[in-house]
Order: sequence, then C-alpha cells, then structure tokens
Amino acid sequence: MALVPVGPLLQKAREGRYAVGAFNCNNLEILQAIIAAAEAERSPVIIQASQGGLKYAGLEYITAMVQAAAAKAAVPVALNLDHGTSFEQAVRCIRAGFTAVMVDGSHLPFAENVELVRRVVDVAHCVGVSVEGELGRIGGKEDDIVVAAADAFFTDPDEARQFVAETGVDALAVAIGTAHGVYKGEPKLDFARLAKISRKVDVPLVLHGASGLSDEAISEAIQLGITKINIDTEIRQAFAQGVREVLAKDPGEIDPRRILGPARERMQEVVQRKMRLFGCSRRA
Ligand code: G3H
Ligand code: ZN
Repeated sequence: MALVPVGPLLQKAREGRYAVGAFNCNNLEILQAIIAAAEAERSPVIIQASQGGLKYAGLEYITAMVQAAAAKAAVPVALNLDHGTSFEQAVRCIRAGFTAVMVDGSHLPFAENVELVRRVVDVAHCVGVSVEGELGRIGGKEDDIVVAAADAFFTDPDEARQFVAETGVDALAVAIGTAHGVYKGEPKLDFARLAKISRKVDVPLVLHGASGLSDEAISEAIQLGITKINIDTEIRQAFAQGVREVLAKDPGEIDPRRILGPARERMQEVVQRKMRLFGCSRRA
C-alpha cells in the first residue's frame, strides 16, 4: 500500500474513541520494529521523523525507507514530520512524499504561530497533506528542541479555538502537563483543561510527551478527545537497553545484526503494548 494521509486515520479514531500511535523513527531497525508491531496488532500507524532525525538519517533515506515499508505492509502507514519549525522544512517534507507535517510554532507569539501554520496549511492542503499545529508550550527535550520548565505553559482553550479557526489546521497538539523526554516525578495532567479544549475545538487533539505516562492517564486522555499519541523516549530506552544487554553479555560482539537485532525486538514489544493501550489494535 502507498503511504496514507493522516486526516482520515484520525477522523476514524475520533469516531471510534481510540488514538493512533505516532512513533519516532531515526533508523532502519526502529522503522522495522514499528512496522512489525503494527502488523502484529493489525493497527494503522504513523511513522514520524523530527528535524533532528532527518538531519541524522537524511530526508531521502527516511522517506524511501518508510515508503518501502508501507508498500510491503499489510496495514495503513502514514509519514509525518514531527516538530518542524519552519515553512521551508515543511515544504521539503511535503515534496519528498510525507503525508502529514507538524509545524511547531509554539515558541512564537500567537499571531506569528498562526501566520506560520496558515502558510503551511495553504500549501499542504493543495496536495492532500494534513497539518498539525501546537499551541501552548510543551516542556522537555525533543531532539534539538529544548524547552525549559519555566518556559513551558499550558494551552488556553479559547486561544485553541481561535488558532484552529484562523489556521485551518487538521490536528492540534495541546500542552496539558506532559513533557518530552524522561519524567523526573509523576506528571500531573490537567484533564479539566483538556475537556474544555475538546469542547471548543473541532479537530483531533494530539498528546506529545506520552512516554512515561501511566496507562490510566493515557486512557483518560483518549476518553477526553486525544486521537494521536506521540512516543519517542520509550522506544529509545528499549533500543538502548537491548544494545546494552547484548554487549554486557558479550563485550566482544562486533556484528551489528547481533547487536541491533535484540534491540529491535524490544522496541517492537514497546510499540505493540502502546497500540493495545491506545485502542488502535485491530483497527487496520
Ligand atoms: O513528538 C514526539 C513526542 O512528543 C515524544 O514524546 O519524549 O515522551 O516520547 P516522548
Ligand atoms: Zn513532541
């Protein structure tokens, strides 16, 4: 199957009250792990690459690998730019064949965030690509984007409504207390705020920084309207743990396949577990 657009995947998830997992990918093994998980769970899946991931692996490599994976896969696969920060980056990804782009203008004043996202929407919608915006500011570290706790702030529900109306965005990432990377303490999510945003906004809502959240928090967020959930950190942790275990057992191992193969299996387990939790298993 060719890569699918993200819009219909999220609309279906919204109607079915589940969320589609969006998993970050930087290399072949991560991609294979995510695709194997999606096939085992018969789940639709969004593969995403951040600007840092594209810098590392190369836009052409990531696009070609994900297109090849989608062509072979028995489930719908979409490809999303994660936390793109410029118009140019979004256009490069659209031109390469991405089926969705996130434009993160959350560091900008409201009017400038609207302006940036609207420009991308104008181009993206001409070619059937959907756009995710972010309002409020999610703390933590996602590749080369670092937001100090003091600079993070929650999404205002009224501004969210205005942002969606003025940009024409297809999905909205909300800041309700999650953060990128590893949590130091137990994160406290503002579910009342999420409920308010859901009532005011008529597009699918996206939860970033979902690694390390409890199952209960994820389920509640889905009940309150979250329909796309981003996971990166837990995949990295599984990868690193798999590699460490192999090398601890045999420090002389030099075959990349023997080092990375077990890591791939660990990542697949994490992704399958998330798909069951998100409710997207058996929805392909
Ligand atoms: O955009 C990517 C995700 O928001 C990553 O969140 O660091 O909790 O896995 P995470
Ligand atoms: Zn994120």
